[in-house]
Amino acid sequence: VDEHIDALMRDGAARAGTFSLGGGLPASELFPRRALAASFLRVIREPGASALQYGWPEGRPGLRAWVAERLRRRGAAVAAEEVILTSGAQQALAIAAEVAFAAGGRIGCDAESYPAALALFRARGLTPTVERTGVVGFYAMPALSNPRGHGLGEDERRALLARARAAGVPIVEDDAYAELRFDGRSPRPLLAEARALVFHVGTFSKTICPGLRVGWLVAPPDFRQRALVAKHTSDLEANSLAQALLEDFLAHADYDALLDRARRFYAPRARRLAEALRRALPAWRFTLPEGGFTIWVETDREGDDAALLEAAIRQGVSVDPGRLFRVDQRASPPALRLSFASEPGPRLAEGVERLARAWAG
Ligand SMILES: Cc1ncc(COP(=O)(O)O)c(C=O)c1O
Repeated sequence: VDEHIDALMRDGAARAGTFSLGGGLPASELFPRRALAASFLRVIREPGASALQYGWPEGRPGLRAWVAERLRRRGAAVAAEEVILTSGAQQALAIAAEVAFAAGGRIGCDAESYPAALALFRARGLTPTVERTGVVGFYAMPALSNPRGHGLGEDERRALLARARAAGVPIVEDDAYAELRFDGRSPRPLLAEARALVFHVGTFSKTICPGLRVGWLVAPPDFRQRALVAKHTSDLEANSLAQALLEDFLAHADYDALLDRARRFYAPRARRLAEALRRALPAWRFTLPEGGFTIWVETDREGDDAALLEAAIRQGVSVDPGRLFRVDQRASPPALRLSFASEPGPRLAEGVERLARAWAG
């Protein structure tokens, strides 16, 4: 990340009184604190103390079985043995990038994509591109994308699979927001269509909480052993305590009810942010997200997104500058990713008014 932008974002996050339309963090009100605390006590008291002990690199069998069962319900025939638990989706992406993509190649991505994946690819000498040919693989968020909050249509899905098959290259499927679509429909993962090509990545960060740092990777059978070696040599295994806690939590919780609650919490906030934008910044373009935490907005004149971020922070609102998400890293015309997840409705509306003042200069 650009050091100047990083410093601005940290400054915005640290200032008292700043309204947060940046960050894209889940709402802390939804963290199931009481139930997690009860699970913590149960796993700590367990006589074998497995939650405090080393485990195998692939992770706890019970939690792997839970992940496999959820994927099977969405149409992908996955066995527990095929799931590798990771330190968040981010580590799953890092392992997939290491074993899936030929060194030095170009990776086909959406024109706007998840910044930490783009940064990961670049750090590994891979080049994100919007081209669809001459690539060593694809990175996609078919169920729901970050930052736009859109899923792939049926035609786009088919086209992506056809291109990957024709070129014989892998697809890294980032499924981080799949269960946070407002329509409650978690689509059939690409994994269900092309086992030999798809590296499927998921996480508990968006639906339960990111602090536990547990995600997963389902690699194609031919790559599983290499993925496991990459996992083992990176950190031996994902945090035992967090895995045990989640396994216990999920055994006691009604996860579907928790997801319903989260969707009912976020959907009105998305509408509220959209209304505020239409009112205060009618010339800016955006489409309503289908889920997730954010709206991608494009401004209507040339400028610099870092300057806009600076002006926004002076007005008391933080935002995420668009260049972080753009594969071509363009600063102009400025675009922003705005989060509706972290602030209640009135603060979203006031935040947008502050942003409009920053834009007016
Ligand atoms: C699309 C996407 N993938 C992966 C991640 C990383 O998630 P985790 O916290 O599980 O590492 C994020 C987090 O922002 C994300 O937005």
